[in-house]
Amino acid sequence: MEHSPSTEFYRELARKLASDFAPRAAEWDQTRTYCRDNVRDLTEAGIMGMSIPTTYGGLGASLEDVLVVIEEIAKTCTLSARIVVEANMGAVSAIMAYGSEQQKTLCAPIVLAGDKPAICISEPDAGSAATQMTTTAHKIGDQYVINGTKHWITGGGVSKLYLIFARTFDESGTELGIGGFIVHRDPDSRIDPDGFEIVRYERTMGLCGMPEAELAFRELKVGADCLLEIPGGLKHGFAKLMNAYNCQRLGAGTVAMGVAAGALEHARRYLLEREQFGRPIAEFQGLQWMLADMDAKVHASRLMLQDAARACVMQGKQFPDVMMAARAKVFATEAAIEVVNNALQMFGARGYGDCVPLERMYRDVRMFTIGGGTAQVLRTQIAENLLGIKLPQTRDGFSSNQ
Ligand code: FAD
Ligand code: COA
Repeated sequence: MEHSPSTEFYRELARKLASDFAPRAAEWDQTRTYCRDNVRDLTEAGIMGMSIPTTYGGLGASLEDVLVVIEEIAKTCTLSARIVVEANMGAVSAIMAYGSEQQKTLCAPIVLAGDKPAICISEPDAGSAATQMTTTAHKIGDQYVINGTKHWITGGGVSKLYLIFARTFDESGTELGIGGFIVHRDPDSRIDPDGFEIVRYERTMGLCGMPEAELAFRELKVGADCLLEIPGGLKHGFAKLMNAYNCQRLGAGTVAMGVAAGALEHARRYLLEREQFGRPIAEFQGLQWMLADMDAKVHASRLMLQDAARACVMQGKQFPDVMMAARAKVFATEAAIEVVNNALQMFGARGYGDCVPLERMYRDVRMFTIGGGTAQVLRTQIAENLLGIKLPQTRDGFSSNQ
């Protein structure tokens, strides 16, 4: 019987990759290029799609092990860690959970060969209020015709697989609910498929090198077999898709926590090395207490994230609990911004310059309380869960997914 690799095996593998990625991280940031060399290394190591079950060619790694890998890699290269998230969570979780046999057999090899699928939810007028999306998919014969605009799509233009969320209508024009469509695009082709246009790329503060694209779909025709088969139909399609998305929230929280753990280690070493007033700055209690608080925040974040992943396995659930994922993401991402900020402070002027990676880490980590559900919106989800009531977010006080 084949044994699946142990957590320690994954940790060591990720540490080796992280150390290879460290010297390249600044270059991707400065040149704003997609880290293809790292993706090649991740693919060769089996990390791209490591969560995919062995039946479909993956390693069948547990959510906890994927989080261990993400943390280690995020310590040196935030971009690569995000790629590991998206190659195992996000669209991948939804496809492997709800995809037909044919869809899984088609998508798994693409991810295992190095693709980071893109998940397309947000629209210019529907960010936090994702249920107000206006992208539509109308069934005509054996096809769906998709129209709409998605923006801030991570990997847009470099990804081959796109999971597009759209309001779905049957042939009689009756709305079925929000569904997810798998669309395949060849990134090496200079010509966009008919009806699928990369409109523009954002110029971001951090995470430079990862394309964030606006995509326009104009009469994009896809086969009806591209629609994920959500159990129970599309009436609760959005909820089911978001349920799968809870994995990605743990992944995003873990990237932030890994960046913070990396920054903490840089700071710890610098305190011992840098001297002022005739002694190592490690001897100043003001900095010692900052360091202790930083350590506690990273540790608490790791426990919350791992706890959510473990609970999911223990309870035999497919995906992490919405409340545990929201709580862990809010805590870990806010803590990470604070930890990286304090680490940068400990470096004085050097932290503000580009000789050490703190300024890049600071720019990178700032995103994580925004993307994947803002800290405010996730707090609302937590409060709803605690209070057991639906807190009105939309103008008429009702969810627009009804
Ligand atoms: P808005 O919803 O306009 O929010 C503006 C402000 O109002 C925020 O502070 C928000 O917290 C607050 N707010 C909104 N509603 C409430 C409320 N009910 N209560 C309290 N406060 C509220 N999307 C994708 O679909 N796919 C991706 O791959 C993807 N990648 C991303 C990558 C990056 C780097 C970034 C920055 C974003 C990405 N996004 C992606 C989009 C992201 O999910 C949205 O930015 C996010 O959901 C927030 O939407 P918004 O930016 O429109 O902000
Ligand atoms: N996990 C599981 N189910 C979820 C969920 C999650 N994370 N978020 C929402 N749902 C379910 C709700 O329980 C509800 O289910 P129901 O239809 O069976 O009642 C349904 O989805 C709609 O959610 P609701 O909270 O009623 O929607 P809303 O109109 O108030 O909109 C959200 C709020 C869900 C859009 C908002 O909280 C949110 O998560 N925004 C961020 C979107 C995001 O993360 N984008 C990332 C893009 S990469």
